[in-house]
Amino acid sequence: MAPLDSGSGIAEGPAAGPAAGPAAGRLERRRTADGSPSLWSEEFAEAFHCGQGALAEARAKFVAPAQLERFAAGTRVRVVDLGVGLGYNSAALLEAACDRGLRLQWWGLEQDPRPLGLALADPDYRALWRPQTLTLLQELHSGGRWANPAAGEGIWCLGDARQQLPQLQMALGGRCDLILHDAFSPGRCPQLWSLEFLAGLAALLQPQGRLLTYCAAAAVRQGLLTAGLQLASFADPSGRAWSLGTAASPSPLPLDGPLRALTPMERDHLATRAAEPYRDPDGAAPAAAIHAARARAQAGSAACSSSAWRRRWGLEPGPRALGR
Ligand SMILES: C[S@@+](CC[C@H](N)C(=O)[O-])C[C@H]1O[C@@H](n2cnc3c(N)ncnc32)[C@H](O)[C@@H]1O
Repeated sequence: MAPLDSGSGIAEGPAAGPAAGPAAGRLERRRTADGSPSLWSEEFAEAFHCGQGALAEARAKFVAPAQLERFAAGTRVRVVDLGVGLGYNSAALLEAACDRGLRLQWWGLEQDPRPLGLALADPDYRALWRPQTLTLLQELHSGGRWANPAAGEGIWCLGDARQQLPQLQMALGGRCDLILHDAFSPGRCPQLWSLEFLAGLAALLQPQGRLLTYCAAAAVRQGLLTAGLQLASFADPSGRAWSLGTAASPSPLPLDGPLRALTPMERDHLATRAAEPYRDPDGAAPAAAIHAARARAQAGSAACSSSAWRRRWGLEPGPRALGR
């Protein structure tokens, strides 16, 4: 990984170019309902975005709950994008930040540079963004970093995010404003939702910092609580889903606007076996081993089952919005 700064800018060093990441499995193009293109991963057997819209999801689940209006114009906002993928979350955040006169200091964690390359070659994707945004994404893809006097600067940390965390901690520990956690779902990618990994992310946050994720799974929420963070839920204005995702912070979150308190039903979910965390003490376990260890822990747990919880709250046959 290229060196990361601990001060005013991102330090000089060899760029983590696109060739640094492993590439596994087929990536298939998918069009989402708002017209924005996305991908499906053979390796994870999962879509990169919800069917309603890749761009809509970036705006609703990452930009809106970031509440950039909290930052005064001219502020440099420190951001970690976990699972850069096609770059939707960062591109949408960059444009929203520029509109507010904010600069980003950005770290992107990603193990596969192909999704961004495919996105940048797609005219439907390119049509979504301003020329400056595309230039920065192109710089990132070809050179491993981007910089612009008005927009800020960024560096791509290619490889398994679990291995990047110690160096990120040295560069950014306790100073990060936003973590956009957009890994594949815990069922497909438990490596990036383990108690240990979430605790590592929590340690990056400054006291008012926020981790934002589309994920509302009980195991993830419990892991964030165990890491010492406070939680809020993303309100769904349409009322179709019981939660659109989770915000977590070392400090209490404002429970208005895009965020709301967890409902009694959501809190009750945290007392079920579904809240049994994913464990990965060495930060190197494969998904199957993490799932097997969790299944053993659930089998020995005295907590009630999530099907009992679903019955209690009239959620049969199953809750929505646990994944994307
Ligand atoms: C749901 S997609 C992210 C979508 C993305 N945020 C976007 O806006 O297009 C999850 C991403 O996590 C990456 N990923 C999966 N496992 C990883 C790991 N262990 N370390 C780093 N990145 C990983 C995948 O390559 C994929 O790009």
